[in-house]
Amino acid sequence: MLLNKNLKKLVSTLTVGAALTFSSLSAFSNEPIVIKFSHVVANETPKGQGALMFQKLVDERLSGKVKVEVYPNSSLYADGKEMEALLLNNVQMLAPSLAKFDKYTSKIQIFDLPFLFDDIKAVERFEQSDAGQSLLKSMEDKGITGLAYWNNDLKQLSANKELREPKDARGLKFRVQASEVLDAQFKAIRAVPRKMAFGEMYQGLQTGVVNGAENPYSNIYSQKIHEVQKFITESNHGLLSYMVIVNTDFWNKLPEDVRTELTKILDEVSIEVNKQSHELNLGDKQKIVDSGKSQIITLTAEEREKWREAMRPVWKQFEAAIGADLIKAAEESNKQ
Ligand code: LMR
Repeated sequence: MLLNKNLKKLVSTLTVGAALTFSSLSAFSNEPIVIKFSHVVANETPKGQGALMFQKLVDERLSGKVKVEVYPNSSLYADGKEMEALLLNNVQMLAPSLAKFDKYTSKIQIFDLPFLFDDIKAVERFEQSDAGQSLLKSMEDKGITGLAYWNNDLKQLSANKELREPKDARGLKFRVQASEVLDAQFKAIRAVPRKMAFGEMYQGLQTGVVNGAENPYSNIYSQKIHEVQKFITESNHGLLSYMVIVNTDFWNKLPEDVRTELTKILDEVSIEVNKQSHELNLGDKQKIVDSGKSQIITLTAEEREKWREAMRPVWKQFEAAIGADLIKAAEESNKQ
């Protein structure tokens, strides 16, 4: 009995000692905090550039304290796997497209509504408004904290046939991101949406598993989509932007000075990404023109109006889930 009691005491002393040793080790550890930033696009895109800029500034200003590792091109996690990895703290930072938050909040679906924003400036006004900023915090109960918006640009339709009017797209299979709104958008024009990971799109188009897609010019050019699609219709019908997110628990447990500096760096990077993204897309549009591989179709005002009318019923379909007030706030952002 006595031996048993002494043994228990010894074990508990050893356990406390070990715990102290571990906590002292981590408190005085010289190891930097590692932030793995995984994404699915090329380095030459707005998101790719943003991630590298963030890495560089962290390296300059938090050297020895924080180390950012960037994994582009789905090299660490592909679509559909990266969010799970963030929740498990296997990666600490992501910037998924706003179309990929369906499972976590219905409100962010607002960004996918077709023909909602007139241009990227309107998108920025909405993102910076109180309504836009509140969406950054809308998934904290799920363990996801939004820190910033990074814009790519408006999306263009592509196919191997000329798409001038919605009826031209009838029956064609379009690759879509995992978004119910985008699914509904293609059904509204009587096309066939197929959810597919970003990294599989090129091959899907090349082999005819899908016939068309919707992407901003930067993703078309960097994925060589223009080499497997003969026509690109400059429809500007929807948005591709990102939310930079972190694992809430990881973020809240960072030392306060580190969190403050990371926030400052990210604010600077976000301003820069959003300042450059439209220009970068225009540059990639020109490279596509120069390649001569795909023809860019410009729509007349009447033709564009037909796409708007055909896709507009999607708004009603998602109004209850998103909230009429939020939709109104986003529409307001089109006014200067
Ligand atoms: C897509 O899947 O089309 C985009 O979300 C890819 C990206 O991150 O730009």
